[in-house]
Amino acid sequence: MSIHKEVKRVTTHTLQEMKQRGEKITMLTAYDYSMATILDDAGLDVLLVGDSASNVMAGHETTLPITLDQMIYHASSVVRAVKRSFVVVDLPFGSYQGNSREALNSAIRIMKESGAHGVKLEGGTEISESVRRIITAGIPVMGHLGLTPQSIYKFGTYTVRAKETEEAEKLIADALVLQESGCFAIVLEKIPAKLAKIVSEKISIPTIGIGAGADCDGQVLVVNDMIGLTKGFHPRFLRQYINLYEGIKDAAQNFIQDVKSKDFPNENEQY
Ligand code: KIV
Repeated sequence: MSIHKEVKRVTTHTLQEMKQRGEKITMLTAYDYSMATILDDAGLDVLLVGDSASNVMAGHETTLPITLDQMIYHASSVVRAVKRSFVVVDLPFGSYQGNSREALNSAIRIMKESGAHGVKLEGGTEISESVRRIITAGIPVMGHLGLTPQSIYKFGTYTVRAKETEEAEKLIADALVLQESGCFAIVLEKIPAKLAKIVSEKISIPTIGIGAGADCDGQVLVVNDMIGLTKGFHPRFLRQYINLYEGIKDAAQNFIQDVKSKDFPNENEQY
């Protein structure tokens, strides 16, 4: 008999049960093996291989340039690290907007080549055919409404969405369509807390908020932002739990000093 306790993997079913019993869902982004190892060990329910990798890993201004191959590379690294968390991968810009066949092919590539557990797509009614087709192939889909960064050139800014009645009503309708299409959860990004509460109460699948208030069924942050790696990024919705930018800079400066002063390596640090 093994003395090691079996790790119970998080599934879409687990997340649904969490909503039903009012237990909040935790999700952070992850893009590489080392970080995913720590986050999985910490007990995150979901790891999102977000296309925010385009910003925080590659230094692009928007999420648009990242490719499907690059997302698969990040996702494979995360999947190799994970024992418990549910891994969701963003379909990048240009890999699903054409038609539902293209969307399905992209989702299949992600699942086959990375071993991830589900995909995320931005948009509502306009992508519902793609959502249905992907789910029909057995792939879990997470929706994403509100501020959808892949449409940044349509919006023009990263400010709060759906403050006006017309856009708020469309968002509620879109959430219902995504639920009917079979999504297992929906990310609500940067919308008024009151609207997020209405959506979270109206639909039976979990909502996961970022800048959408406390009444979502779960919360997500970009990990680089919440550990203070992203220099000078302090939006109101972000809680920074540690300042790794300063910590790493400090460590690097100490290393420089130790090498220059010939303090490193010492006798015990050589062969
Ligand atoms: O790409 C990403 O990191 C995301 C989160 C902000 C939800 O989509």
